[in-house]
Amino acid sequence: MNGTGYLHRPSSVGILACELYIPSLYVDQSALETYDNVSKGKYTIGLGQQRMSICSDHEDICSLCLTVLSRLLDETGVHPQQIGRLDVGTETLIDKAKSIKTVLMQLFVDHNNTAVEGADNINACYGGTAAIFNAIHWIESSFWDGRYAVVVMGDIAVYAKGNARPTGGAGACALLIGPNAPVVFESGCRATHMAHVYDFYKPNLNSLYPVVDGHLSVQCFTSALDTCYTQFCTKSQMNHESHTHTHTSTLTSREVNLSTFAAVLFHTPYVKLAQKSLARLYLNDLIRACPYIANATTEKYKNLDIRTLVNDKDLERDLVEQSKELFEQKTLPGLYFSQNMGNMYTPSLYYSLFAFLISQPTEEQLYGRRILLFSYGSGLASSMYSVVCRKVHECRFTLAQLQRSIQRARNRLDNERTALTPDLLDKLLLEREENDHTVPFIPKQPNETLKSGDIYLKSIDKNHRRYYDKFIANDNSERNDDNAKPIQQLYTEYFQNRQTSSDTNE
Ligand code: ACO
Repeated sequence: MNGTGYLHRPSSVGILACELYIPSLYVDQSALETYDNVSKGKYTIGLGQQRMSICSDHEDICSLCLTVLSRLLDETGVHPQQIGRLDVGTETLIDKAKSIKTVLMQLFVDHNNTAVEGADNINACYGGTAAIFNAIHWIESSFWDGRYAVVVMGDIAVYAKGNARPTGGAGACALLIGPNAPVVFESGCRATHMAHVYDFYKPNLNSLYPVVDGHLSVQCFTSALDTCYTQFCTKSQMNHESHTHTHTSTLTSREVNLSTFAAVLFHTPYVKLAQKSLARLYLNDLIRACPYIANATTEKYKNLDIRTLVNDKDLERDLVEQSKELFEQKTLPGLYFSQNMGNMYTPSLYYSLFAFLISQPTEEQLYGRRILLFSYGSGLASSMYSVVCRKVHECRFTLAQLQRSIQRARNRLDNERTALTPDLLDKLLLEREENDHTVPFIPKQPNETLKSGDIYLKSIDKNHRRYYDKFIANDNSERNDDNAKPIQQLYTEYFQNRQTSSDTNE
């Protein structure tokens, strides 16, 4: 924004600030392997996951989104009246008509701002990217009124008991979007691949869980990745040929390949798929005989048709090995949140971006670094695009500030979470299933997991209207009592009491 509050020609549109949600509860994946009686290493090595976030009954999709939005406004000092657009991305639906965006309007209406465009974007894990594209298009359109846009995305990813359950998770984030940003959405080059397929979908509106053909979803993901990468490389080359001058935030390159990017990040249902995806892009580069790879190496792959190589496990293993160094440089630094929180659906890709941004100790090390992003939502919708980091001038939103917000979330992740045993995860999910659509409803699980500033679900009335409150920790509360019971014990007792009362009622 300039002094008069209106910039007619916004440039360097991108992420100005961010806020991340870290659920307080998790289950350890190696404990889950033992509990599920699968071979040791299946979840931790085979899928590459360490921990999976879970939510209590005080948390629903609105409470997660309200919390990150409220914290974003508090931390940045942006007044709700300065926001002109709010887009939400989610696949955690609680209502077939009323959008989560309208629930979030509670944070604006009290500040006399009802002039906020945007609504919810839904297509599996792609909704967050669709929301971001909408926000960018608004700012770059003739309808922009000079105010900021905000994108909020979040999901509580839960699967029915079985082989997909360890690929669940939960998370939410809020992004402040505007011009003169430290992380810029590069203009002019974006690839998209959309198709009709039943790989993962949620046709049962009374169930929390998707219908999922896991192996088909991985094949669809991989084919979409190939298609988007080919299209992205072709378009950037066309840009190069048609541009007479280079704008700093436009990707125009004679040849795009993995060496063009400091980081290559993917929607991450589980870490191993991100590693295989990087290997897949490397295969694309091998087939194209990209100059950063030695001729002797590319020779073997010349003239192969990538479309015929989707299920070749031996080739996949070989490529994962060959691209190990590239993976460690360009993808692994972005996987910390995913590895320790699980699949967050819509925000998963953006948690990878956050993790990459704090993998560099100072903001100077990020200047000019280009990041490739691949977004995938089953069904299917997919896009590939790039962002570039820059030093900002005359703007209070800096890369260092973004890094500080992300680091705060990382500290919560490392130091403020509680592990629940896998049997408690089962009980918690069973109770979530039972309570889904139950009205009236008051959450009863231990609330000791709430952090000051969290917005939590207080109740749902008989007309399915949900009420929320902000949790403010009281310094004198018994929570600070040294004798306070550990959260794991509180949950164990909670479910024991539930069992006793249901036995008594029978
Ligand atoms: N030690 C090491 N590795 C092991 C072990 C072990 N003890 N046991 C198995 N593995 C390996 C397997 O070899 C396999 O590796 P590979 O993929 O390289 O072949 C990997 O662990 C997974 O084992 P599978 O037997 O293939 O796993 P399963 O069939 O039980 O389920 C799946 C995996 C399909 C990903 C399932 O968890 C699922 O359906 N998840 C939800 C769908 C999903 O996430 N799709 C991704 C894109 S769409 C989206 O985001 C929702």
